[in-house]
Amino acid sequence: MQDYRDFLDEILITEEQLQKRIAELGEEISQDYQNEDPHLICILRGGILFLTDLMRHIRVPNTIDFMAVSSYGVERQSTGQVRITLDLKDDIQDRNVLLVEDIIDSGYTIASVLSFLNMRHPKSLKVCALLDKPDRREVEVPIHYLGFSIPNKFVFGYGLDMDEYYRNLPFIATVDLDRYKPD
Ligand code: IMP
Ligand code: MG
Repeated sequence: MQDYRDFLDEILITEEQLQKRIAELGEEISQDYQNEDPHLICILRGGILFLTDLMRHIRVPNTIDFMAVSSYGVERQSTGQVRITLDLKDDIQDRNVLLVEDIIDSGYTIASVLSFLNMRHPKSLKVCALLDKPDRREVEVPIHYLGFSIPNKFVFGYGLDMDEYYRNLPFIATVDLDRYKPD
């Protein structure tokens, strides 16, 4: 695989900006969930770095679980159809679920996940997204906690992939697709 520097367009959000904002979100969540033990559900794989950094800033008792979904979309577009590929370990009935998602693009992924989870009767169900691309929205979804609103450009790093690579980078960058040559 190529080195990311070969196709990097610009660093949109630096490591320092990410960490500062995530600390603020953790503080806000800690205030809102006093005596409400949030159950953080990370949507794999993109949400993993965000979850692990965010939970370090949550000062109320909390638990975590994971799920994975896949959309039938082609290339970098998702479609309306989403299915669960890895289900939760624990029951969420009567729990205060907080979904931790990397990015909301068309909105289809989070909308489907919300409807799957609502059928299991959580006590509350909220969404915490690191990134939002509002220009791309096709279905209305609630975002209760948001890191950053970004322009309609494909991004990678900090959990987000380009063909499964580059998730480990500590910043969010845009890609110059003319210079990106996947194997
Ligand atoms: P949605 O269903 O269109 O809202 O898409 C959400 C999912 O698409 C995210 O969880 C990401 O996995 C992926 N995605 C959307 N935009 C980007 C991007 O700019 N970079 C990397 N992945 C993205
Ligand atoms: Mg992806």
